[in-house]
Amino acid sequence: MFYLFVMRILSGIQPSGALHLGNYFGMMRPAIELQNQGEAFYFIADYHSMTSLFDASQRRANTLNVALDFLACGLDPARTVFFRQSDAPEVTELTWLLSTITPMGLLERAHSYKDKIARGIAPSHALFAYPVLMAADILIYDSNVVPVGRDQKQHVEMARDMAGKFNEQYGRTFVVPEPRIRDEAAVVPGTDGQKMSKSYGNTIEIFGDEKSLRKKIMGIVMDSRTPQEPKPDADQNIAIQLLKLVAPPATGTEFEDQLRAGGLGYGDLKKALFENYWNYFAAARKKRTELAANLDYVNQVLIAGATKARSVAREVLTRARVACGLEWSDPRRPIERAGGLTCV
Ligand code: ADP
Ligand code: TRP
Repeated sequence: MFYLFVMRILSGIQPSGALHLGNYFGMMRPAIELQNQGEAFYFIADYHSMTSLFDASQRRANTLNVALDFLACGLDPARTVFFRQSDAPEVTELTWLLSTITPMGLLERAHSYKDKIARGIAPSHALFAYPVLMAADILIYDSNVVPVGRDQKQHVEMARDMAGKFNEQYGRTFVVPEPRIRDEAAVVPGTDGQKMSKSYGNTIEIFGDEKSLRKKIMGIVMDSRTPQEPKPDADQNIAIQLLKLVAPPATGTEFEDQLRAGGLGYGDLKKALFENYWNYFAAARKKRTELAANLDYVNQVLIAGATKARSVAREVLTRARVACGLEWSDPRRPIERAGGLTCV
């Protein structure tokens, strides 16, 4: 007999603000490309967004926008299970089970927690336990591969550690997942040269109004060298790095060579970046407008995704509950085992 191995691919994105080029090239595009290589589960991490966003109506609006953005960019609901994290609340129970085998030291080493505290986010219990919920997300769907940007690598490694510890303690229960990180877009730079991030105010959104996006691109921080000066470090230039993502490869190389040789002004480079960026998302922009006019369809997609996700989540959670002794695999056994005791 042959068994066909179907790879389960899973990733999530928080509805914590408008999605940007870092999200697109770091996570969404790789995730969309992987849809054809296995069974994909992609979700909107609304529980996670509660660690940093405290406005309910904003969360609702962002959640809808993430759904529209992802569908417009090519997520295919006929192939992929697309859902809201909180529509499968089983994940919060698994978070508890995993937290019991998670050493404090593991969580204390989380870069993302330290960064968030450094940026002034209040250190709540949920912020500290964020990686445990993320591990539960990954493990509750028996995920094999998790496409993410480099900043999430440590979180996926923590999920591997938790799966390993639980399996060691209670017998083989969870699939141990692998992170999948694309080198060329592992860290997309923002307009100020730091990692592009919603929380740094340095983003170029995937969708938005033309005028303000042009302004953002024209505002990318450059040095004061004259156009004529050769720039041996052309590959480090933020606009070149972004251009290489949105332009055909020959165009990216051509601009990089010109910048290196001298004679290309930063203004012209940024104009080329804007034009290529605007064209790159033209089809997705059109699709997004159509989707926004058909929100019933978007809701139906999320409801169908939730139904499928929840059935898998229930099954894996039951496996974990049985493994750690909260439940018997055969529902009659507790009564048999209870012997002469009254069992209600
Ligand atoms: P943000 O930092 O803007 O809040 P998220 O933490 O919500 O972004 O990230 C969502 C996904 O997008 C993750 O997989 C993350 O690794 C990826 N990502 C975010 N910013 C970047 C970036 N600048 N470069 C590459 N990937 C990124
Ligand atoms: N922490 C991820 C981020 O901020 C979002 C996320 C939540 C996630 N759960 C996940 C990503 C599970 C991959 C797998 O980007």
